[in-house]
Formats: sequence, C-alpha cells, structure tokens
Amino acid sequence: MSTTPKTSRPLRSVAWFGRNDRDGLVHRSWMKNQGIPHDQFDGRPVIGICNTWSQATPCNAHFRELAQHVRDGVLDAGGFPIEFPVMSLGETLMRPTTMLFRNQAAMDVEESIRANPFDGIVLMMGCDKTTPSLLMGAASCNLPTIGLSGGPMLNGKFRGHDIGSGTHVWKFTEMLKTGEMTMGDVIEAESCMSRSAGHCMTMGTASTMASMVEALGMGLPTNAAIPAVDSRRKLLARMVGRRSVGIVEEDLTMSKILTKEAFENAIRVNGAIGGSTNAVVHLLAIAGRIGVKLTLDDWDRLGRDMPCLVDLMPSGRFLMEDFYYAGGVPVVMKEIGKYLHQDALTVNGKTIWENVSEAVNWNPEVITPLDRPFKAEGGIAVLRGNLAPDGAVLKPSAATPRLLKHTGRAVVFENIDDLNRRIDDPNLDVDEQCILVLKNCGPKGYPGFPEVGNFALPAKILKKGVTDMIRVSDARMSGTAYGTVVLHTSPEAAAGGPLALVQNGDMIELDVPQRRLQLVITDEELARRRTQWKPQPPHADRGWVKIFCDHVMQADKGMDLDFLVGSSGAPVGKESH
Ligand code: FES
Repeated sequence: MSTTPKTSRPLRSVAWFGRNDRDGLVHRSWMKNQGIPHDQFDGRPVIGICNTWSQATPCNAHFRELAQHVRDGVLDAGGFPIEFPVMSLGETLMRPTTMLFRNQAAMDVEESIRANPFDGIVLMMGCDKTTPSLLMGAASCNLPTIGLSGGPMLNGKFRGHDIGSGTHVWKFTEMLKTGEMTMGDVIEAESCMSRSAGHCMTMGTASTMASMVEALGMGLPTNAAIPAVDSRRKLLARMVGRRSVGIVEEDLTMSKILTKEAFENAIRVNGAIGGSTNAVVHLLAIAGRIGVKLTLDDWDRLGRDMPCLVDLMPSGRFLMEDFYYAGGVPVVMKEIGKYLHQDALTVNGKTIWENVSEAVNWNPEVITPLDRPFKAEGGIAVLRGNLAPDGAVLKPSAATPRLLKHTGRAVVFENIDDLNRRIDDPNLDVDEQCILVLKNCGPKGYPGFPEVGNFALPAKILKKGVTDMIRVSDARMSGTAYGTVVLHTSPEAAAGGPLALVQNGDMIELDVPQRRLQLVITDEELARRRTQWKPQPPHADRGWVKIFCDHVMQADKGMDLDFLVGSSGAPVGKESH
C-alpha cells in the first residue's frame, strides 16, 4: 500500500500507517481490531483526542460521551480520530493535592502525544488541573492543537437559593462552626450543590481556566461557559472535532496561537471575569513551555486597571449558567476590546476580535458594562517586600476593602498540622486585627502547593460575626474562595524564604495600593533569624514526590519542574520492533 497524504505537508502519522513493511503491518493490523476499515489508513490526518475521563474526577465524568461527539466531528471532516487517556486529576478526591501531580500529568500528556501517530490534538479539559496540565504537555510538543472544556455544572439549588460549588462549602463550613447549620442541613446541601455533570459552576479555577482557553484563542468561542449538560456543549464538541482536522491542514501549531499577545489578552480577561489566582501559576507554566516570557509583573501591570465585569461567585451573586445565558466570555472580551490585542490569532483561524466583536450582552446584571463595572479592581495584585522578595499575590475583588491597607500582629502557624491543632483553641491569642500566618504550604513545603491559603478563621472570631481577616501564606487558594488572603508568598518557607522567619507578635504591613508586604523588623534581625533557620526533613527519598521536591520551581515561576520548561517538539521516534 502506498499512501498519499491528503494535506499539502507531510503528516507524522504516515510514518506509522503509510508504510509497506513489517512495521506498517503491525501499526495497522492491531488498530484494525477496533473495526477500523483499511481505507481509513489512507493518509488522512490522525487526531489524538486526549481524554481526562475518570470516575475519580467527577467534573470530567461525562467525557466519554463528549469524546464521541469529538470523534463524530473528526470523521465528518475526513480525519481519523484516536482517543487516548491521560492521568486525570480530580480536585475533590486526590490527596495531598492535585497540584502535586499537575506536572506529572503534563509529562504524561507530552510523552503520549509524541510517542503516538498523531498529527493534531484535541485536549479535553475540565476539573481544575486537567486544563493546565494538558495545555502544558501539549505545548511542549507544539502540534496543531485545539482545546475543549467540559463545561460547568448547572447552578446549585438549595432551599430556594442558588448555591455555588466550593463557595458554599466554605460558607456552610463556617455556619456549621457557628451553629447556624446542623450536619443534617449540610448533608442535604451536598446533594443540591452538585446536581449535574460538569465542573464547579462558580468562577473558580476550572471556570477561570476554561475562560483562559477561550481568551488565549485555544478554544472555540463560547467554550468556557456552556453548561456541561446543555446540548450545545455536544455541538461544540462536534465542531471542535471538525476543526481539529482543519488546523492540521493549516499547520496551525500551538506556538502560532500562544503568543505573548495571547497571554496578555488572557490576563486582561482574567481581571475582567474576576478569575482565580491559580491562573497566575498556570499561565506562567504554560508560557514557560511555549517559550513566551511571562512574569508576575505582567500580571500586575495588565491587571491593575482592569475592572471586574462579571458578577459571579465567589466575589458576586451569579453562577456560570447565568454567565452563559448572558453571553459568556465573548461579551466580556468585546466589552474590554480596547485593552486587547485584537489581532491575536485563534484556533478557528480568525482573530480574537473577529470572534467576539458581534457578541451581544443579554444580561447586563451578570456582565456589567465597562463604564459601570461590578468591581473597580478585578486583576491580581502582585505584592513585594521583605516578606515576599519574589512576590506574593492577592485578589482584590475577593478581599475586604478596609483590610487592603492594614498593619497587624502576626499569629503564626508553623504548618497545616499546627493550624488544625490550634486555630479553634479558645485560648489562642488572637483578635480580628491580627494577621494570620501559615507557613510550609508552598510547592516544596506541603509538598505540592495546596489550596489551604483561605483557611477558616478561628471559631472565636467567627462567633463575633467577623467574616474576614488577613491571612498570609505560601499556599494557594481555591478559586471558589474569598477573603483578604495573601498567597503564593515566594520564596516559600520550606525553601528558606522570609516567611519561615516570621514569629508570633511580629508586625506585618499589608499595603495593596502600594503593592507592599513587609515584615516590620530590621534587616539585622531578619539576618539573625536566617542564621538559625533549619530546613525541614525531605518528604520522600524515592518516587514522584522526590522528583517533584528536587526539581520544582517556586510559585513566581509557575511551579513547573526545572527540566520541563520549554518544548521538544514532536519528532517521530525510532521504531520499537
Ligand atoms: Fe473539579 Fe471544582 S472540583 S472543578
């Protein structure tokens, strides 16, 4: 058999399926056990459908069905779909934190793509880390690639009110602490919160990252917000499948989409949607893979004058279903058009402005106009000072305005166990003016950089009716959470950062307008304490945790492993037979 590629350029897959030798026989014969007819090996583009389905990732549990619609689309367009699984990171079950495994999943994605006969890739993403890990891994191969998000759950409904994933977990947990809810109430609420397939329907990390896929130009318009169970999600999947063949024919590789301009657009959009602080770490990591120089300062520079237009939980009232019905990300991008690089190319072959300029806002309560924004400051503030020489982040739209400039006495917890042991101790020496400090929850410290930075306030403070205090840590925060929370403090305590040297009773100055986070002690005292600091013992002497701890970079660099930064492309490897 001799095959002629249907595209004008050589396809990788021909090195597998287009051969008239023993290896060609092997490659085709075993695939035929799936009912694939011989004429499908005729040089048509092979599309790898990278699926993160797993029952242990409930947010992606509908992906087997969704993948069928992608397959139909690939076949419609004359392509050859091959679905393959990769490590799936389920936010709600995995311990100690899915973030520990984001880079591992990215390695799985990268090597699975490179090792197989794929010409183009569809990335099926949903739950928080399944989006950055797939984008990172695929970026290191740089094939023509298109993203498909799984969509949010329907709005939660509990006793006549909308409730949001995550956001109401934090609320209900506090109400349980104060006695406003019983355990019976909470169990009833559990069923009312997650009532359809899909990911968290607040503007948490999953919705944020799905919006980033769209804003970066890596997904089709409306990718982010169509509810998972809305039939239009199936249609979108089919259109993604069709388009995946087109991007191979056009050789529209990821690096042509993921330019510096695309990242800048995404950062702007993150501000305008009030997106998760987790997007900071993920976009830095993705940029590192594709060779775009992106820094924390870009986040502050581009977010500083960007109002938040989207009134969604955790900062606001509505949920992703409402966001979709209002018009979703295209409306937001149209509204902030003057801030965007309008010529940025997207995966459908059009510019971002061509995609969004006709969008209509069907509900200005959910997506407010730029001149009457929901919140004046939507971006991520990057703080620096002697407590965070390499930066820390805070989400002003989720914070209490009067706490954005505040000096308070530090109440220090050395690690998460210390926090859990003492936070509700009635004898804890704390009042609402204090600043709660949590150490050793960064990438190396926990390990894995968990979402514990929004830890609940001491019970005795909550009982006074106080709902927010400044918290400073080297941890992350769930995108569904809220509060005046300083996160990602770098370098982290476990790497010997100044956070490790904070002591009970120290004064800490937070000044968000000036972007300052300062430990009010002398340089000499800081230096003296440094000489006494001792690193914690290693978490592991083998396996993934050892690789991770030996090679993980700090939060301000995106928490990738040092040896994974960059791309190796997708050269066709040697034969194994
Ligand atoms: Fe999967 Fe929130 S738990 S997106």
